Amino acid sequence: MDDHPLLLPLLDEALTRRGWLEPADVEAVAREARVPLARAWEAVRFYPRYRTEPPEKRWLLVDDPVARARDFSALLVELEAAGAQAGVHVGTLPSLGLEAVGPALVVEEGAYGRVFAPVQVADLRALAVGKLPPHERETLPAELARNDGVLFGDPDPPPDFPGSDAIVDAVRAADLRGMGGALFPTWRKLEAVRAQASEVKYVVVNGDESEPGNFKDRWLMEHNPRLVWAGAALAARAVGARTIYFYVRGEYTAALERVESARTDLERAGYFDALATHTFRGGGLYICGEESALLESLEGRRAEPRLKPPYPAESGLFGRPTLVSNVETLAHLAWIAAHGAEAYRERRPKLLSISGDVERPGVYELALGTPLAEALEAAGGRPDELQAVLMGGAAGTFLKLPDASELPLDFEVPRLSGDSVGPGALMAFDRTRDLWAVVEGVSAFFAHESCGKCFPCSLGTPHLHAAVMQRERGPELEELFLALEEGSLCGLGQAAPWAVRSLLRRFEGVVR
Ligand SMILES: Cc1cc2nc3c(=O)[nH]c(=O)nc-3n(C[C@H](O)[C@H](O)[C@H](O)COP(=O)(O)O)c2cc1C
Ligand code: SF4
Repeated sequence: MDDHPLLLPLLDEALTRRGWLEPADVEAVAREARVPLARAWEAVRFYPRYRTEPPEKRWLLVDDPVARARDFSALLVELEAAGAQAGVHVGTLPSLGLEAVGPALVVEEGAYGRVFAPVQVADLRALAVGKLPPHERETLPAELARNDGVLFGDPDPPPDFPGSDAIVDAVRAADLRGMGGALFPTWRKLEAVRAQASEVKYVVVNGDESEPGNFKDRWLMEHNPRLVWAGAALAARAVGARTIYFYVRGEYTAALERVESARTDLERAGYFDALATHTFRGGGLYICGEESALLESLEGRRAEPRLKPPYPAESGLFGRPTLVSNVETLAHLAWIAAHGAEAYRERRPKLLSISGDVERPGVYELALGTPLAEALEAAGGRPDELQAVLMGGAAGTFLKLPDASELPLDFEVPRLSGDSVGPGALMAFDRTRDLWAVVEGVSAFFAHESCGKCFPCSLGTPHLHAAVMQRERGPELEELFLALEEGSLCGLGQAAPWAVRSLLRRFEGVVR
């Protein structure tokens, strides 16, 4: 029999019933989930949404790199004034995949908040006298997918499953890479899980997407979840798994509902055959997207990365061989299965989340290899008027324009210069923007999101943030970059210095 992760879903049920958790709720959940009480409390203390007191009303401004470069500070000042007037607690929240439609505000009164975007100074002033901002935003607009990508249309899954060998062969011939950021060849992971002798295997869809600047997975989950489920079902067939868990970022409520509704529709239509499928509300922390931390979180533990090896392909969920794949990767897989590797290689599609100083921020499907300037132009950007692009996300690097205009957005090419397309975020900044304000936000983000498991990151990220706030530079800062990059256990700490370092190296006079 498969194990089943119960702890977080049961805590969520209790949370939804009352709005917060009483000790009796936690005890009841621990009994029902058949875990020691101490483990249930560990989860309650680790994941921020499990409040143990009645939630107070809070107004939270979303802090992402695009907002930071614009009027984040001014908006926060207004919000603080409004909060003081109305007696409401004010704070900030990390990126919510709203860079293309922000700046965004979350109004919290119960377990989950209501999101408003875009907000302006006048909206925040009106809050003080009880008026909510006009634009409530539960989902990304469907029109945010701006061109005619194959992953936007064709929402129906392929009619027939090809055999499992055929799936792996097609994925290899297509040269599909992991779209969660690492760009690892997907067929290798499929092969590795398939080669395991275990009777029980899992496929886990990584829909955690909390990398600032990225919203393409959010769009797919909200507007084309059937394609992702189709890819997951094909992947399960390819590796011999009988169970799929779709892990959706905790704060993406609409995405969660749409993923679940697509699941029930497909199940009713007999699409999954003998496969067991589950939608899972994620823990609501950036580290939950790291694949092994995600598995810990599915098991109801603190989302802390595991030491590797063993990799999830050998020992993943509940110690069983597990394929963890990104939402977009699986959408590609479904398309490849339906249309063949050759058609895929002709297109080499990649979803890019383009935001910041472009006329039409949104999700664009462009061919890999497209030069950076062309990608920006597709979104109505004028590369000659821009000073920089933050590529990849907070865990990305600053590229200087026009120097990097011809850089092909491809797997290997940017990496040669120490950059990576990563999951595909391009945040554009014109010459009026304060790039240092962006790294102030990025370094605060890493210090806040470090899970605390290893010293280089848990000590180094607050140190880095303090250095950025003091506008320090020099050999000590370089040593800190190195300590984080080489000493941290997982990609969070390793990537924490990249944005700051690339900004210092490529932009003269950025520290004044
Ligand atoms: C701190 C951190 C956060 C991550 N967040 C995500 C995420 O939100 N979504 C995702 O697909 N991959 C994320 N990853 C990458 C995953 O660990 C993993 O490589 C990916 O899910 C594998 O899927 P793919 O091969 O299809 O890309 C993250 C990695 C790190 C280090
Ligand atoms: S690098 Fe940071 S996030 Fe990763 S395990 Fe260490 S402390 Fe946790």
